[in-house]
Amino acid sequence: MPALCPWPYPLWIAHRGAGKLAPENTLAAFDCGLAHGYRMAECDVTLSRDGVAYLLHDERLERTTNGRGIALEQTWALLAQLDAGTWQGERFAREPLATLAALAAFAQARGLVLNLEIKPGSGDDVRCGRFAAAETLRLWAGQAPLPLLSSFSHTALAAARDAAPQLPRAHLFERLARGWLADALALGCVAIVVNHRALDSAAIAQAHAAGLRVLAYTVNDAAVAERLISTGIDGLITDAVNRLGPGAAKPGSG
Ligand code: G3P
Ligand code: MG
Repeated sequence: MPALCPWPYPLWIAHRGAGKLAPENTLAAFDCGLAHGYRMAECDVTLSRDGVAYLLHDERLERTTNGRGIALEQTWALLAQLDAGTWQGERFAREPLATLAALAAFAQARGLVLNLEIKPGSGDDVRCGRFAAAETLRLWAGQAPLPLLSSFSHTALAAARDAAPQLPRAHLFERLARGWLADALALGCVAIVVNHRALDSAAIAQAHAAGLRVLAYTVNDAAVAERLISTGIDGLITDAVNRLGPGAAKPGSG
């Protein structure tokens, strides 16, 4: 049985920064997660048309910015002008989209550890996986722990592995369909990140027996978190940074 790799990451991970209490995937969201005691955050990394790595969840700009259209069609010069904060409240007005470079500087200054989810625009898996991994390696050179790269896209993860094999990788799964373990092992992953509804103790044990760590998303319910912790989960990605994990212990954090 392969040994489980050393795991330098905290159990609790703030989803999209702290993306329900502040504008997701912006520096304001990471700041909010840190204020609630979270030392690790997940976020979504994509690429502009002209190859700048930055943070955005959706294919389109409308939900989380004052821009319009397909994000992948825009240059960074345009994206850099957008307001990615006002949709979450006037106090976040003019919060910009964050480049991966800006996030690296912020995280290293504040002691924040990251799970960088590679989120390619449609058809952009290879370019996005390659650029995001190469840029991560460059920006976090000499730092520890290195960010954990993850993706739903097998193609993007393969490109990330080829560009920066030394970065730890995790395969994301919405459900554990046939072949999930082989897929993760074929990419040299150290972990899987799975929708908590698709996880049970047998799947966690199977992953652990194969040497893979197991993280669950998006866990916003205390009972679900307790069940997963009792079955040996290695990481919990949550929106509920003011109710669960380190945030639950902070007075006045509700
Ligand atoms: O990385 C875990 C989770 O963020 C995956 O789903 O859609 O929130 O990026 P999504
Ligand atoms: Mg994500």
